[in-house]
Amino acid sequence: MRYRPGKPLITAAEIQARVHELATVISRDYAGRDLLLLCVLKGAAIFWADLCRALRMPCQSDFVAMESYGDSTSPLEEPRFTKAADVALSGRNILIVEDIIDTGHTSAHLRELLRAASPSSIAMCALLDKAERRQVATPIEYCGFVIPNAFVVGYGLDFAQDYRHLPYIAVLESLPEP
Ligand code: IMP
Ligand code: MG
Repeated sequence: MRYRPGKPLITAAEIQARVHELATVISRDYAGRDLLLLCVLKGAAIFWADLCRALRMPCQSDFVAMESYGDSTSPLEEPRFTKAADVALSGRNILIVEDIIDTGHTSAHLRELLRAASPSSIAMCALLDKAERRQVATPIEYCGFVIPNAFVVGYGLDFAQDYRHLPYIAVLESLPEP
């Protein structure tokens, strides 16, 4: 099967406007407090880069990467970082920056791992929420867009490492065989 990104589901202008709205709310909520943005690689990298530059307050940033379990996630499996945070998390106000919450397993595992490091607070900022697909409940304190149940690419999100560079979000479409 061959695939290609379809027309924008969310345009670059719509993304930029929403990122600035989120940044305004986050800046208000965290005013006067320490803020550590924890960007989940690789998908959230572009969102993080725009979000942190739109904040109206100082913040620090660090990066984590999680093993992806996809649909076969077993709640009994041990969640694992493929890259852990470099900075100490104890006592910090952590704002996780994610590309998309799908089944919710990655986010639920990540929050559990972070809680063990005794931060002051943990919140989630996700650009996209594929709410229909949720299997485990996981809070999203700051959500960019709720999207329908479709595989999307662009603005950091990939299909087999392709299409992360697109400035917009598109549904991945399958092409008829020639
Ligand atoms: P979850 O654990 O099912 O919530 O999935 C989380 C991860 O799956 C995301 O951080 C993405 O890396 C990946 N993912 C889920 N849906 C999509 C999609 O539509 N496009 C690209 N990646 C996706
Ligand atoms: Mg991800």
